[in-house]
Amino acid sequence: MSENKPKSIATIKVCVHKDCRAKGSEQIYENLKEGLFPDEAVVLKVSDCFGYCKMGPNIAINDNIVKGVKPFLAVETVRQELRDPSCKADGLGSKPLDALDDVLDSIDKL
Ligand code: FES
Repeated sequence: MSENKPKSIATIKVCVHKDCRAKGSEQIYENLKEGLFPDEAVVLKVSDCFGYCKMGPNIAINDNIVKGVKPFLAVETVRQELRDPSCKADGLGSKPLDALDDVLDSIDKL
């Protein structure tokens, strides 16, 4: 029965490295901490750049990178992604962070 199924809690990582920070990622972090319920997600600041600085501010939702998050829409963006994860045309948006090394390696070989 689905009612007995434990609800999984998402992990949201907010990039607060310099470029994302300059574009409002600290506000995204604050909005997510205030707007999401504790049983929805754990929200973390990470200072390791995701490598998509020009497209920031960026967050990772269960290690799927979501680029260009608007601070005032951060909570809605996360809830939408949790309901229906986006699959970007470049395929990178749906890959976990660990898998990005493989993507970068394959690009280097071209
Ligand atoms: S500074 Fe955030 S992705 Fe590079």
